[in-house]
Amino acid sequence: MDYMERINLAAKAIEEKIGTAEIAVILGSGLGDFGNTLSDTKSIPYSEIPGFPSVSVQGHAGVLSTGIKGGKRILVMSGRFHAYEGHPMEDVTLPVRVMAKLGVKKLIVTNAAGAVNTAFYPGDLMLITDFLNLSGMNPLIGKNLSEFGPRFPDMSNAFDKELRKLALDCANDMGLKLQQGVYTWMSGPCYETPAEIRMVRTLGGDAVGMSTVPETIVANHSGIKVLGISCCTNMAAGVLDQPINHQEVMEMGLKARDSFAALVTAVIERM
Ligand code: HPA
Repeated sequence: MDYMERINLAAKAIEEKIGTAEIAVILGSGLGDFGNTLSDTKSIPYSEIPGFPSVSVQGHAGVLSTGIKGGKRILVMSGRFHAYEGHPMEDVTLPVRVMAKLGVKKLIVTNAAGAVNTAFYPGDLMLITDFLNLSGMNPLIGKNLSEFGPRFPDMSNAFDKELRKLALDCANDMGLKLQQGVYTWMSGPCYETPAEIRMVRTLGGDAVGMSTVPETIVANHSGIKVLGISCCTNMAAGVLDQPINHQEVMEMGLKARDSFAALVTAVIERM
């Protein structure tokens, strides 16, 4: 099936089954159950959306929901598609194209990340100010989808300045510590080496992870404003003299879940 056809089919099925919203949220590892805390919820599993790829990774539910949070109707993706699972870039970012079709105007992307900045602590939330793409991939390679955006889109405000200010104001009002920094996209699935983390730090990265950037690029290309928040679940490789394991990453995600959810909710309320 042609890519545009997949996007249109998926958008139509979603609109019919669960409706749509102007604000969307993509939930990263461990945050999956935020989608269960909406009221007036309608959901559709990815497997029932024509054109959608299927999900596999632990901690990612694979459900799209609409419902009310912070007094607003939102669209929530519980579970995303990662390049490291073998999904081609166009599948990783198909949901964002579908969001654009559905009239989404603002997107909150969340993730679990390793802290590269040694002033951060595991469990810290980080407002993403910008990204470094060290993956060697880019979701816009190929024929430009000109109905969404231009061939050479600007990325100088990839994480929208006004939304960032709003998130900082919310965190401040809540008395919540919110770090700020540059998120670095590495392909994964192995965690980075200590040498790679030193490189990232030298290049100006504050956190490192395996997602978020492709969706952010495509959202920007599609005219959707993006707010990005990372949960620093662990110190990146080599910062501490200990190995990194997925189980511990998930556990720290769980510990930070409530403050993460509270911040996202407060932001939605004031969006
Ligand atoms: N590296 C890459 N991705 C991650 C990490 C990390 O240390 N922690 C959580 N996601």
